[in-house]
Amino acid sequence: MANDYKRTLVTCALPYANGPVHIGHLAGVYVPADIYVRYLKMRGRDVLFVCGSDEHGVPITIKALQQGCTPQDIVDKYHGIIKKAFADFGINFDIYSRTTSKVHEATASDFFKKLYDEGKFIEKESEQYYDEQAHQFLADRYIMGTCPKCGNERAYGDQCEKCGSTLSPDELINPHSTISGAPLVKRATKHWYLPLDKYEGWLREWILDGHKEWKTNVYGQCKSWLDGGLQPRAVSRDLDWGVPVPVEGAEGKVLYVWFDAPIGYISNTRELLPDSWEKWWKDPETKLVHFIGKDNIVFHCIVFPSMLKAYGGYILPDNVPANEFLNLEGDKISTSRNWAVWLHEYLEEFPGSQDVLRYVLTANAPETKDNDFTWKDFQTRNNSELVAILGNFVNRAVVLTHKYFEGRVPQNLKPEAIDTEVMGQIPAIKAAIEDNIEHYRFREALKEAMNLARLGNKYISDTEPWKVAKTDMERTASILYNSIQICANIAIACEPFLPFSMEKLARMLNMDSREWEAVGSGEILAPGHQLNAAELLFAKVEDAQIDAQLKKLEDTKKANEAAEAAAAPAGAPDPAKEQCTFEEFEKMDIRTATVLEAERVPKTDKLLHLKIDTGLDQREIVSGIAEYYTPEEMVGKQICILANLQPRKIRGIESKGMILMARQSDGKMRIVSPEEPLTNGACIG
Ligand code: MF3
Ligand code: ZN
Repeated sequence: MANDYKRTLVTCALPYANGPVHIGHLAGVYVPADIYVRYLKMRGRDVLFVCGSDEHGVPITIKALQQGCTPQDIVDKYHGIIKKAFADFGINFDIYSRTTSKVHEATASDFFKKLYDEGKFIEKESEQYYDEQAHQFLADRYIMGTCPKCGNERAYGDQCEKCGSTLSPDELINPHSTISGAPLVKRATKHWYLPLDKYEGWLREWILDGHKEWKTNVYGQCKSWLDGGLQPRAVSRDLDWGVPVPVEGAEGKVLYVWFDAPIGYISNTRELLPDSWEKWWKDPETKLVHFIGKDNIVFHCIVFPSMLKAYGGYILPDNVPANEFLNLEGDKISTSRNWAVWLHEYLEEFPGSQDVLRYVLTANAPETKDNDFTWKDFQTRNNSELVAILGNFVNRAVVLTHKYFEGRVPQNLKPEAIDTEVMGQIPAIKAAIEDNIEHYRFREALKEAMNLARLGNKYISDTEPWKVAKTDMERTASILYNSIQICANIAIACEPFLPFSMEKLARMLNMDSREWEAVGSGEILAPGHQLNAAELLFAKVEDAQIDAQLKKLEDTKKANEAAEAAAAPAGAPDPAKEQCTFEEFEKMDIRTATVLEAERVPKTDKLLHLKIDTGLDQREIVSGIAEYYTPEEMVGKQICILANLQPRKIRGIESKGMILMARQSDGKMRIVSPEEPLTNGACIG
């Protein structure tokens, strides 16, 4: 299959430039794509690896609003951070650009214009929520209200983060604007829609009949979308951040971020190869592969292909190997809750250990189901696989070759010195790695690559050249010759997975070329070839390092709990009181009054001394509300009082009556007032 194509274009989901990247991104998208690309490049295939930042969309504008800066400031900052993190982890894009680039704006704008001119869109007016104070239409994320499913008062117009329900703004109870706080009104606005329903038949055939080989999670999601029936999708928004809709009368409207972002793959290719980009996008001999996370499936399998089809002349993806999600220590990774391992922080804490993370994330990749990253597993895989197997084998082989053969690949061997039993296993391992990588099964591929190290480690442990050397140098030469050849095979076969360490290994072995086809071919390093000094490939991860990471997460959890408790409404109400009779209630003289004067009772924190007009008289009251109201706030306020409470002397002042207060279970207090002003002395009951 792979060989039918002349070249391969690999894209990775463009990350939103509104936060740094974490291990979930790496595991789900960028590491597998990088393995795939490195492998193809080693095989000498013509490959282009394209990515960039997704810099439009509402979340970026919200972040800017929260931080009091412009959306451009936000994307400039995170584009830099993200780009650096990828480079640091060896994710070798041929281009990492951005959707605020000039080329992208022109490409996306032209794309829309052509579809518009050809009548490929539906134009429709609809009623959308409008904030009259902020003078703008509101994106779903800007609308807040009560969740109809769980009662959370802070649910967004697209989702309730408390119960996880997907919502539409119309479902919210009491919808209001998060920008101005104002209640919302509906206003008519015009938008353009891509009629996906018209592409349904074609999509069914292309995906459901034509791509049965896609991963089951991907195929299944496509099928359920298609079976559910497709609706026209709006491709524009009322927003002032994005690519302007290039049509007269569309002022204040931009392309929907999910319309412009995937076009970013094209723009970035164009930016890199202004003269030859078309062969990567329009020649059927190009194989297009999109690496994404599962939340992006519908956009890459249904929406973007329909856009390309509508435009005409473009190739479609040959595969979309989407992954599921990676959790962290049992909980969903969350940027807003800071529940993540951020790549830049990892590198500060484990400097030079990029490959360890690449290894763990691949070994445990969420390829077919959600998976969990735990620090304990990280430590175990490092210590008992990378250190104990791969590192240990390579180190023994190279060190012993230096010890007994001055660092030269043993020479003058008899033909039977080649351990065919061991060396003969390598071609099958090579074939298994290839088959797995070409079918996007990177965990399996890595397991096979590690089998080479297992093979070598077992070989050297079984043959014990350090013992044999005492009596039989010819046999020692043979063992180390074979061991070094296995090392050379590893340096090539593990390169896609562990590029940093394999670079080191290649340096130790003094290998200048590493071609894939050499794997399993027999002798890679000639007898007499001079090796360089041994270096350690991997270091043990100590318990203290793991404990520090777990402590950090524990602290995050505590901070989140404290923040949630502070934001949450008070818990359970005070318990119910005993029943009273109507007569008992009737005895109470509750009435309205107005505060005339107010001052603090000297030397107290809690007491205010008030003069009030009860309609019957003017009298003085001492009330414990100074923690909640200043004297200035109280003057002029209409309140309710229990007027016939037995007078009491408080701090030498005769207090006649009591102000009615509502006290929440967490201690917060507010006075109780009539909804609108009444005459003083109006009776309550
Ligand atoms: N920014 C999106 C996300 O992080 C992915 C965009 S992929 C593209 O979910 F195709 F639109 F570029
Ligand atoms: Zn809810």
